[in-house]
Amino acid sequence: MALRGKHIVLGVTGSIAAYKSALLVRELVKEGAEVRVVMTPSACEFITPLTLATLSGDDVVLDMFPQDRSKGTWHIHLALWADLMLIAPVSANTLAKLAQGMADNALASLALAVRCPLMIAPAMDTDMYVHAATQHNLGVLRNRGVHIIEPESGELASGLTGPGRLPDLPVLMDILHRHFDDTSGTLTGVSLLVTAGPTREAFDPVRYSGNHSSGKMGFAIAGEAACRGARVTLVAGPVHLSAPAGVERIDVVSAQEMYDAVMQHAETQDMFVMSAAVADFTPAEPADSKIKKDSTTDAGLTLRLKRTPDILRTLGERSRNSVLVGFALETDNEHENALRKLKEKHARMIVLNNPLTEGAAFGGDSNIATLLFADGRSEELPLLSKNDLAGVILDRMQVLRTTGG
Ligand code: C5P
Repeated sequence: MALRGKHIVLGVTGSIAAYKSALLVRELVKEGAEVRVVMTPSACEFITPLTLATLSGDDVVLDMFPQDRSKGTWHIHLALWADLMLIAPVSANTLAKLAQGMADNALASLALAVRCPLMIAPAMDTDMYVHAATQHNLGVLRNRGVHIIEPESGELASGLTGPGRLPDLPVLMDILHRHFDDTSGTLTGVSLLVTAGPTREAFDPVRYSGNHSSGKMGFAIAGEAACRGARVTLVAGPVHLSAPAGVERIDVVSAQEMYDAVMQHAETQDMFVMSAAVADFTPAEPADSKIKKDSTTDAGLTLRLKRTPDILRTLGERSRNSVLVGFALETDNEHENALRKLKEKHARMIVLNNPLTEGAAFGGDSNIATLLFADGRSEELPLLSKNDLAGVILDRMQVLRTTGG
């Protein structure tokens, strides 16, 4: 019943997926939400305002300058009324306008005026979606705090296959339910430590071995936990991300430094999420000065590596009472390996993902994960943005904490 009585402004733009907005309006109304629809002129080429007005039970906003002059500040009234503005689908053109802060139609004006969260669901042809300009605009909006619903990959109206599909209705509804679920303050008084990003293992003063982890997953978890009221310590490897508001960030470089930082803060924590991609090996004898090649021969170089300390396992052995969650990044025998990790490291939950799966690649904003629990249960999740996955992980951790499961 999360949507009952909620005020939702649904923006519809000129994308072939606009026809799906009719089903979305019907479902929102069925679940008790009050919906007002605003359309761009191009959206009206794909679906008629009459359809959406009938389904929403109210006039559709189309004009910046309505005939009825008494409605001159309509966009301000509607902006203040809204609990959420969702633009689904959002076209490449409207994305560009939003990124620039343009206000040359009713929908774009409203998006600038709302004080509530703005959620957008891009849907367009693959080439337009992957274009550097579109990706740049998405980056700008993401950094501004706009909630982006990742498009799905699949067959598009053009006959091409690739990312750009508006997710199906159940996926959209699930995201809205989670958005309105009242989670704020549910982690008040709880301390959570998150590791994120890669580690770098130096083999001389200028070179290192590392990995492709972007840190986005761990930062999303830290941000969501802080929103829920937790006291969050984020131990981050070298990444290009700014720390979410209200989070204590500790920057580290190597696996050993990450281990030291975590152990220093471990005593006071109720929960741990080890999402960092920690190196398993580090050079056994790093050189004090830059290793030179011998230009007279083609001889290669052999480096001897030693194991790094396993942070997750150490915590699992020491802190049996806290809720300990690990990640497993597996490209083969995924389930078996993740289950082994769950047992060996005494974790309460393992988040399994495969970076070779579409939608779960390194550095992306989405992930497809399976959650494995110590009691043998498992839960396969759909493609989710990393922010939404962070929410699900914390939901499950809160249950584990209260049930001791
Ligand atoms: O054993 P593996 O590295 O595959 O396990 C992955 C999990 O263990 C992740 O949660 C990762 O953060 C954690 N880990 C760790 N310390 C290490 C290696 C991995 O905490 N040295």
